[in-house]
Amino acid sequence: MPKHEPAVTPTGVHGGVFDHMRGHVLGAVVAALEQNGVLELFATCGVRAADLGANGFLAEATLRYLAQRGLVRAEGEVHHFTDVGRELYDNRGYLVWLSGGYGTALHTYADLLTGKRQFADDVERDVRWVAIGTALVSRPFVLPYVRQLLDEIEFERVADIGCGNGHFLVDLCRTAGKAGIGIDISPAACAEAAREVTKAGLEDRIEIIEADAIHPDVIPGLEGVQLVVTFFFLHEVYEHGRDALVGYLEGMRRRLPAGAHLLTAEACPPEQDQDTREPLTPEYALTQAFMAQHLLPESEWRQVFEDAGFDVARIVRTDLPGGRVILARNPGTAG
Ligand SMILES: C[S@@+](CC[C@H](N)C(=O)[O-])C[C@H]1O[C@@H](n2cnc3c(N)ncnc32)[C@H](O)[C@@H]1O
Repeated sequence: MPKHEPAVTPTGVHGGVFDHMRGHVLGAVVAALEQNGVLELFATCGVRAADLGANGFLAEATLRYLAQRGLVRAEGEVHHFTDVGRELYDNRGYLVWLSGGYGTALHTYADLLTGKRQFADDVERDVRWVAIGTALVSRPFVLPYVRQLLDEIEFERVADIGCGNGHFLVDLCRTAGKAGIGIDISPAACAEAAREVTKAGLEDRIEIIEADAIHPDVIPGLEGVQLVVTFFFLHEVYEHGRDALVGYLEGMRRRLPAGAHLLTAEACPPEQDQDTREPLTPEYALTQAFMAQHLLPESEWRQVFEDAGFDVARIVRTDLPGGRVILARNPGTAG
């Protein structure tokens, strides 16, 4: 075998170490271009090196690399997406979420593992990009299922807990004429959400509140909403244990009017523990381990809601690998 054509290495189901390198670099580059607000240009009018930033040398190298990897094609100086590039663009939320949200934690993995550095104290995820990445992923892969479920229930006012950049709340209030509040602990996410609300001209119908929603008692106005949404938030509560999660849901149910609904989206853990080819779920589960969070399987989610006194109306699989949308109803019984 010539030196420049090494044998395929037996390091995984996806074809070896060089595939992993390519995925690592491409993921970081695509996420960075989205973070800098230029990725959309490839999909619309095309990109010149000068559009990528002040570092001309790196900009040229970036375009060359994306072309070598088949994501873009040059027409003169302008670079446009190929079909492969456009497909990756449509799925960019996963890369933004991973690289933008958890990139720093992944790069300090060694220290997090040994305990030299502690997650939250010394290293944080970037909640802004977690929220934006989640929103980009949710729109095509989760929200169509959410809309179907919402068509089955009636509500006027909604509370979005852990609202992130407010994309869902804004969409709902704009398209369905609803009103509501969004609550998030992250100042960056709230600032992003407030910008989205202003951009949509919905300041009179949506209030964004920066608060720790880990105790249902502090969530304002729950008695006046007919729908609570908690997309990709409840596993944050589960970090404090199953009893805490059940207690949280129970506390919320007690404050909600009878017949009110709670709609949540979560990702379940991998279904197999050995040699699985399932996409995303092993990587998702590992990133959540930074926060010492476990993921619950579907059967456990059902049980948790029932233990908290909710009726589980529907559990639907989404196009997000491992994703479930759960619709629960407050039967309004005492206790
Ligand atoms: C994965 S993001 C999901 C955002 C949004 N629900 C969505 O689906 O796009 C989780 C959000 O929960 C927020 N969050 C985490 N812990 C929280 C807490 N204790 N109180 C309020 N928000 C919290 C985070 O700041 C983050 O914006």
